[in-house]
Amino acid sequence: MTQVLLTGAAGFIGFHVANHLLGLGHQVVGVDNLNDAYDVRLKLWRLDQLNKRDGFIYFRSDISDLVSISKVWKETNFDAVINLAARAGVRQSVKDPWVYFETNVTGMLNLLSLCVKNGVEKFVQASTSSLYGAHTPRPFKEDADISRPLSPYAASKGASEMICHSFHHMHGMDVSLLRYFTVFGPAGRPDMSIFRFIQWVAEDLPVIIYGDGEQERDFTFVEDIARGTVSALRSVGYEVINLGGDRPVKLMEVLRKIEALLGKSAKIEWHDSAPADVRATWADITKAGSILGWEPQVSLDQGLEACVEWYQKERAWANQVDTSDD
Ligand SMILES: NC(=O)c1ccc[n+]([C@@H]2O[C@H](COP(=O)([O-])OP(=O)(O)OC[C@H]3O[C@@H](n4cnc5c(N)ncnc54)[C@H](O)[C@@H]3O)[C@@H](O)[C@H]2O)c1
Repeated sequence: MTQVLLTGAAGFIGFHVANHLLGLGHQVVGVDNLNDAYDVRLKLWRLDQLNKRDGFIYFRSDISDLVSISKVWKETNFDAVINLAARAGVRQSVKDPWVYFETNVTGMLNLLSLCVKNGVEKFVQASTSSLYGAHTPRPFKEDADISRPLSPYAASKGASEMICHSFHHMHGMDVSLLRYFTVFGPAGRPDMSIFRFIQWVAEDLPVIIYGDGEQERDFTFVEDIARGTVSALRSVGYEVINLGGDRPVKLMEVLRKIEALLGKSAKIEWHDSAPADVRATWADITKAGSILGWEPQVSLDQGLEACVEWYQKERAWANQVDTSDD
């Protein structure tokens, strides 16, 4: 049994990673500052589920505040850190880049320095497919040039990867850097397309599409991501690993599948494409297979069914969740 410090535990991926760890019999020390980057009701719902489970304890703490996060280290011990706490929206990062750097760079640096101080050697860090920008040939391989990010969000994640490497080199930290590709699943993020499409179609609200809807994403089911993240707790030295579905799909195709599952038609409202968004993604997952023995197991159709089922079960409050861009 391992005791893991999991930051961003009330977040979308954090919630599923916590469940996966607990299911394997590990202890989870969850940290989250419950910020209002998106509707907090979703974070509170996830936290409520986790608080009912044995082996989970929660600290409300901000990783970018060294005093606050140091207190968590004084009160508990861990064998490893999984850092999923982040500001994660691509388009929102253009409006306020500073908060992205506070959490994604300073916050992560605080955690790494506390690892060194307290002798915790294993660090799993969430990174992103957004780093591959517009210039990388597909499928994206981990050794591609990532020096031309399109958004402040991607830039902050690039900086965090480099800091991780310096801590590996200087302090012998064992770091698994996981570049996730468009993650979707139950209790997902309301600033991402799949949660929005389901709510908007189910509630007869206008479905906003940025650009022509032909943009492609390598959608990856959240339970596959959780399994890959937990398997990355093994010792690797320093490795950057893509975790992606390996099946790029056009956004319009996803919308059509959701319409079919709900038995309703979307009222589409076309908006200009967002310059911070990349046109298409696709993960080369050879490395995930060879290092982690990982490959995705859940198809897009199975995953979408699980999302719709979750929404219908939680509809009484999920239909109120704020999915606007403000
Ligand atoms: N969802 C995706 O498709 C995707 C893709 C690539 C990478 N990622 C990365 O995966 C990680 C998890 O993403 P997610 O989709 O679950 O996002 P999320 O926003 O749902 O989860 C992040 C959580 O971190 C918390 N948090 C943010 N700043 C914090 C701080 N300073 N201190 C403590 N807690 C803080 C938030 O309250 C939130 O609950 C992030 O690092 C994100 O960049 C996600």
